[in-house]
Amino acid sequence: MHPELPYPFLQRDPARGLCLSGVALAEIAAEYGTPVYAYSAAAIRDAYVALTTAFGDRPHRLCYAVKANGNLSILALLARLGAGFDIVSGGELARVLAAGGDPAKVVFSGVGKRADEIRAALEVGIGCLNVESAAELDRVAQIAAAMGVIAPVSLRVNPDVDAKTHPYISTGLKDNKFGIPIGQAAGLYRQIQRHPHLAAVGIDCHIGSQLLDVSPFAAAAERVLALLDELTLLGIELHHLDLGGGLGIRYTTEQAPTAAAWVDALLTVIDRHPLARRLPIWLEPGRFLVGPAGVLLSRVEYLKPHPDDGKSFAIVDAAMNDLMRPALYGSVMAIEAVQPAADTVAQDWEIVGPVCETGDFLGKGRHLPLAAGDIVAVLGAGAYGFSMASNYNTRGRPAEVLVENGAVRPIRARESVEDLFQHERPFPSPNA
Ligand code: LLP
Repeated sequence: MHPELPYPFLQRDPARGLCLSGVALAEIAAEYGTPVYAYSAAAIRDAYVALTTAFGDRPHRLCYAVKANGNLSILALLARLGAGFDIVSGGELARVLAAGGDPAKVVFSGVGKRADEIRAALEVGIGCLNVESAAELDRVAQIAAAMGVIAPVSLRVNPDVDAKTHPYISTGLKDNKFGIPIGQAAGLYRQIQRHPHLAAVGIDCHIGSQLLDVSPFAAAAERVLALLDELTLLGIELHHLDLGGGLGIRYTTEQAPTAAAWVDALLTVIDRHPLARRLPIWLEPGRFLVGPAGVLLSRVEYLKPHPDDGKSFAIVDAAMNDLMRPALYGSVMAIEAVQPAADTVAQDWEIVGPVCETGDFLGKGRHLPLAAGDIVAVLGAGAYGFSMASNYNTRGRPAEVLVENGAVRPIRARESVEDLFQHERPFPSPNA
């Protein structure tokens, strides 16, 4: 393996260049065009198996966070492995159902669920609504009563723990909009207990994303267990603990915790608690399951070298609308030249897209051998890549393909320009 490649299923073949699970990325770019997202089914499967295996024979459920990558083929792959799903919208619920996911294994998170979304979730028999405020709890109760059903709910508590991650993706501090302050949760659980159309099924928390240290997960679990004790004294019996998602991955040189380290950190806390150790543990992993599995392939359109004066730019055909993470969070994602010619000399490049903003970059100061027409691969792009893509600058979103058993399957066609304005209506002219 190339020493700088952070993921084992990416190999550099002397003849075929960079390969994803044995398939040459240059061939994918040639066949499907660029920009294109390519995902390794084996990598997703391996990540799922690593996490589920870490639990041993402990009862648990992995509810894949659909927001990380909601492609129907990826959801179907995870559903076949037995995954549940964590959703944040009616749209994501529809995706999970279309992909064959079991609604009874779905948790519905999010601070702003609309009435129609709550109704849709209850109609299909959702596993659990993770309620994030007293006002939302009232709404769920009213809807459930009107429908004549009992809504299964967890309260998502905000444990006020610092996840030590990027401020935009830190969610477990009291200043964040997420969850119910943990001190107010017991009172709301009593309301649930008294309400004929609500059933408290669990407790939920999620403190942030891309965590590279497991200790905040353990600290949050401690606080959730203290609440569990309080609830037990009130005679409230729960059926699962949902400890959220957030496990970080390696993008360049970071040391990310393993799945086993995450699960061990949680179980170490839980095993000390006589009641909690008997409860099924649910997790909501997104990035860990799909992030490393994906690459974004893009073609170099132009080089603008400035050897003596300022920076050199490699202008590629993917932009911030296709992959927003570098522009939005300043994320550093590894970029590789897929199949550079032997005589191309490496130098430092700013890898930028065609969008009319200085914030439109995929990587800065990358030492790479690049020539116009070459393909570059942004690694670790399987999570929050396509799912955050937009049509800014009237650019169609990329195609997506899945590499499985040496074959490449298109799982989403590239958007055409006609796709982009199909819902628009020309303004009528005065003579019309
Ligand atoms: N559960 C809840 C309630 C969440 O809000 C999230 C992510 C997850 C689970 C999954 O977290 P994960 O295991 O993927 O870290 N766009 C950002 C990440 C935003 C994460 C939002 N919530 C990025 O590109 O880094």
